[in-house]
Amino acid sequence: MMSEKVAVFDTTLRDGEQAAGTRLGSREKLTIARQLARLKVDIIEAGYPASSPEDFAAVQLLSREIEGPVICALSRAVPGDIEACGKALANARRPRIHTGIGVSDVHVAGKFRDPKYGKTTGEKKVKLIQMAVAAVKLARQYAEDVEFYAEDAGRADPAYLFEMLEAAIEAGATVVNIPDTTGYAVPEQFGALIRAIREKVPNIQRATISVHCHDDLGLAVANSLAGVANGARQVEGTINGVGERAGNAALEEVVMAVRTRGDYFGVHTGVESREFCRTSRLVSDMLGVVVPPNKAVVGGNAFSHSSGIHVDGFLKDRETYEIMRPEDVGVLESRVVLTARTGRHGLRDRLEKLGYALSQEELDRTYHRFLAVADKKQEVFDEDLIAILHDEIHPVPETYHLDYLHSYSGTSAIPTATVRLGVGGQMREGAAVGDGQVDAICKAISVVTKTSAKLARYEIRAVTSGTEAIGEVTVQLEEGDRKVMGRGASTDVIEASAKAYVDGLNKLAAEFRGQERPGDTPG
Ligand code: KIV
Ligand code: ZN
Repeated sequence: MMSEKVAVFDTTLRDGEQAAGTRLGSREKLTIARQLARLKVDIIEAGYPASSPEDFAAVQLLSREIEGPVICALSRAVPGDIEACGKALANARRPRIHTGIGVSDVHVAGKFRDPKYGKTTGEKKVKLIQMAVAAVKLARQYAEDVEFYAEDAGRADPAYLFEMLEAAIEAGATVVNIPDTTGYAVPEQFGALIRAIREKVPNIQRATISVHCHDDLGLAVANSLAGVANGARQVEGTINGVGERAGNAALEEVVMAVRTRGDYFGVHTGVESREFCRTSRLVSDMLGVVVPPNKAVVGGNAFSHSSGIHVDGFLKDRETYEIMRPEDVGVLESRVVLTARTGRHGLRDRLEKLGYALSQEELDRTYHRFLAVADKKQEVFDEDLIAILHDEIHPVPETYHLDYLHSYSGTSAIPTATVRLGVGGQMREGAAVGDGQVDAICKAISVVTKTSAKLARYEIRAVTSGTEAIGEVTVQLEEGDRKVMGRGASTDVIEASAKAYVDGLNKLAAEFRGQERPGDTPG
């Protein structure tokens, strides 16, 4: 039997953008919306037009430019807001107005305390239903597709909520949104609420039930899924779970849960999940909200394995420790992170991938050096492994040895460096100026060693933290068709740079031993 579809409603550009300290302009919203269209979400909530001219313009722009998803705009249940939505959405191919009002007793008593809404709670409740009905009817004059939200439904008196939903559907709402605005609900109870709506609201068959959950208790995704399991056929959320306070339900998690556990939920979405990783990065960059490495589905470590037991199992059969395929969410491949806990099997596998097939004895030696490095660093990179191999298995003779170094620069001084190196049993000195201290050092070393390698890459990273951190410099040197990596570490980054450069030159010297070098200079 064909499974039912759950529509995916993305509100990154509206609720997500409400995250503290974030603001997106129209062009940025358009860039994200284009990516959301590639992700094939069903609905994009583009903004709240009455809130600012900028938001109005953004909704207008997306209405004009975006093809595919429905473009939705938010309003309160007040005519001015709805008219603004109608105007901003005028050019949308498939417009939707999302209007609504508070339903919980807290909202009724707090937001609508002005006596103009009624003197007693009972009177206010009647008035709010009238406002909801009027809002939906007005919205229907601008769009055939009208979604009604019952704000703070998660804390509402169910009987009042049912009455409100029935009235909204009667007035023409095509979708009824059940927001857990404050993230108060727990999955079993929220699921039961959705089931009760299906059973108790007489005209519910004429509308789609949507769930919109916030993450104040870390339950937004679980609550959304409980909603889906109990009959919600639209789910709302944001990419990376960004949003007001603790955020909204993370759409990538909801979608991948429905997909991975299709056996349990028995529904599907139309989302192109291979776009998740790209979308997540874009949203993170544009909103300036970093994705934690351990974030489900799109976190940097979501497909990384590091402990020996896991790596061993994973390398034998991926499915021992992975329930999703990385390529299904747009991650190129799973990663084995080399740490002190990785084990020999993981190390051997990585070395083989790097093209090194070692004997057991060589592997043992390399593993011991690897452990020493891994104890000092969080992660051992491929460059580190290659450096270890050069030391342990293919040691590089020291043609050049850095003996002394002095450099200076300043706002009004030309960066200058003086170096002394041991070269073939002799001490040689030289100096050079450069475009910055590192450049001066490299040039001075080239002068002394009479070499002409090209510095193709320069990277620096702190191995330890604090102002006295050890800086580790990695350089890539090129000469003719040879490329080598040089590494150096020191608390002084200039010294680390010099060591890395000399290390690279020693490797190049070993590569060219007994051969003429492209850049040979006599002397
Ligand atoms: O959380 C909420 O209640 C909302 C509504 C405006 C849908 O974002
Ligand atoms: Zn919300």
